[in-house]
Amino acid sequence: MELRHYLQFKDLSREEYEHLFTRTRWIKERFKRYERYWPLEDRTLAMIFEKQSTRTRLSFEAGMHQMGGAAIFLSTRDSQLGRGEPVEDAAQVISRMCDVVMIRTFEQEILTRFAGNSRVPVINGLTNEYHPCQTLADIFTFIEQRGSIRGRTVAWIGDSNNVCNTWLQAAEVFDFNVHVSTPPGYEVEPERAGLYGTDHYEEFRDPMDAARGADLVTTDVWTSMGFEAENLERLRAFQDWQVDVEMMRAAKPEALFMHCLPAHRGEEVAAEVIDGPQSAVWDEAENRLHTQKALLEFLLLGRVNP
Ligand code: CP
Ligand code: NVA
Repeated sequence: MELRHYLQFKDLSREEYEHLFTRTRWIKERFKRYERYWPLEDRTLAMIFEKQSTRTRLSFEAGMHQMGGAAIFLSTRDSQLGRGEPVEDAAQVISRMCDVVMIRTFEQEILTRFAGNSRVPVINGLTNEYHPCQTLADIFTFIEQRGSIRGRTVAWIGDSNNVCNTWLQAAEVFDFNVHVSTPPGYEVEPERAGLYGTDHYEEFRDPMDAARGADLVTTDVWTSMGFEAENLERLRAFQDWQVDVEMMRAAKPEALFMHCLPAHRGEEVAAEVIDGPQSAVWDEAENRLHTQKALLEFLLLGRVNP
């Protein structure tokens, strides 16, 4: 079987995502009916964390167990990676002992170096640049609740960070539009976002203009992991970029609100919005589990057609 990695959103085609979503629905339904599905018996996932996590660790670890496999947690603090073992050497060794690897790290380059030396599929569990597993779950959630995302408008309010970059890649794959509004100095960097062009997004100075008529309004923390030294400066710069009730009113009446979590109520989102009727945040989080199980199945077994 051809070795495939999932390092950024555009690593899969739209047609492959459609297959993943079909598998996700099937896997989710079976799981809800307590029906055993163990296609990954004897397979092992190594999970390497250089940053903290709740959802990513839990969804991958629980997902592997639920599919009959095992997951091993490694962190920088208690592995040789934290003592300077070259990432290329770590990749050689880990990929001889495990069947698939998930990594959460800093620069995307660390991940690509690891993948370049791995015998097994490597999955991006978040880097400074991208968070493809998150957007995978988010798009599945949107389709589940609102139908096709093609031609829709997604408003991204706040920092042009890893999750924003991934939405921008997803817009190219699924053919929808992103209205981005960031404070000055925090604009999208198309090359860093890995975009083919600028056809699928538009930048707005005023976040209310970005939200106007949107089918989905989404945001994320103002300070991502690894950027903590900029926290105070960012708190000041992002004050007017909170998704509040008024901003949700500018979007379509049936618009959803999404946030990858963890969230800071009173900063990037008002409590009334994240805890309100348009919020899909708990479904997004749950769907991390189901979509990643389909991703693991695809990377390890190829196209499964029950
Ligand atoms: N959204 C997300 O990736 O959450 P964690 O940082 O808890 O894994
Ligand atoms: N942008 C956030 C996402 C956390 C899941 C971060 O990188 O910290």
